[in-house]
Amino acid sequence: MPELPDLDNEARAILTANDRGGYTVPTEGLYPYQWNWDSAFAAYGFSTFDIPRAWAEVETLFSGQWENGMVPHILFHRPDTGYFPGPDVWGTEGQGPIASSGISQPPVAATFIRRIYEADPDQGRAHLERLVPKIERWHRWFMHWRSYEYAICITHPWESGRDNAPDWDGAMAAIDPGDVGPYERRDLGHVDPAMRPTKEDYDRYIWLVQRGRRHRWDESRLWENRPFLVADPTMTFVLLRANRDLEVLARAVGYPDWDIYEMTGALCQGARFLWNQKTRAYDAFDVVAGKRCHSVSNASFLCWYGGLDAPEALPTYDRVMARVPYGVPSYDPDGAKFDARRYWRGPVWGMMNLLIATGLADQGYTDRADALRAATAKLIAEHGFWEYFNPSDGTPAGGARFTWTAAIWLGWASPNAGRG
Ligand code: SER
Repeated sequence: MPELPDLDNEARAILTANDRGGYTVPTEGLYPYQWNWDSAFAAYGFSTFDIPRAWAEVETLFSGQWENGMVPHILFHRPDTGYFPGPDVWGTEGQGPIASSGISQPPVAATFIRRIYEADPDQGRAHLERLVPKIERWHRWFMHWRSYEYAICITHPWESGRDNAPDWDGAMAAIDPGDVGPYERRDLGHVDPAMRPTKEDYDRYIWLVQRGRRHRWDESRLWENRPFLVADPTMTFVLLRANRDLEVLARAVGYPDWDIYEMTGALCQGARFLWNQKTRAYDAFDVVAGKRCHSVSNASFLCWYGGLDAPEALPTYDRVMARVPYGVPSYDPDGAKFDARRYWRGPVWGMMNLLIATGLADQGYTDRADALRAATAKLIAEHGFWEYFNPSDGTPAGGARFTWTAAIWLGWASPNAGRG
């Protein structure tokens, strides 16, 4: 099977081509900066063939940490006019050491840092000693500024990483972005508009950025009358796992801090809060409106990754997976809002599949984990290293030669990869 090693080579070539020196762009053109969770996946990919480069990636990410502990979702290392909204729109000057956005993103970093460390503990120790206190401050920032009933909230759809998921539709509809003013999107110059969020979404995305900027990104001022605050399964389950991994890393370098353990306990409670008995899935919760979002998404199936055994969620997972040849779809194919091509409203995302399959395997649902790995490998082998794919026929969508798709191939989906 000569094509298998070729795909490994291609994946490595993609990571190398997207390397901008110490950080990796998600894809040329569409996303020209360092994105937070993309970067953690990039480090995971690099760790399969270049461990020092993997450490450089996460060190660069944490070099952008704000004084208050937040690690931004985008670090604008170098100006690039091909992306909107850039640093001039975010207006975060004075907040962090590097020009950045004013929000964070799902904290998968600790989980991948653990994998990089375990690949070569001797090489990793000095990095860990530097990074563990930084990770702890970031996790603590989530607990302090983003917690509701100990579930972790987003204050902007971009914070979830699942920008236009139907989860946020109700909360977004409640915002009137009438005074947003004119702006020019750049994403539509790179990708078919049918695969991207709508203008209605973008008006609100930009309006929320403008609100943050007006309040100088001061969390206590922003907290008052927040127009958008939604407890998110991605954030909650990802932080729950990341915090358990932080416990392990902290022990490895003799960094005893009992608060880390308390955070894990609180997050377990938050995770259970997200269960929706009606949809029989873990669900987002609109804090402003005080109601569940009734959205079955791929984030719903991160419950196992978060460490819950959650057999109660398996029937919904099985129903959703039976509806498409290439799961896991980002939204329920039986839902009226399912859109097979539009970003987080239907398409399948390889890196979410890695997280979901990792959780399934951890909880002993190995048949499902193996099937998901095989389906993801087939999807990438047949269609390439795209940003996301149509779950009904595998058609590629979004950006090409995508960093996290290459990374999860190398670390997990490739037949030559180790465990997930
Ligand atoms: N994902 C957003 C974008 O598409 C920003 O995080 O630009």
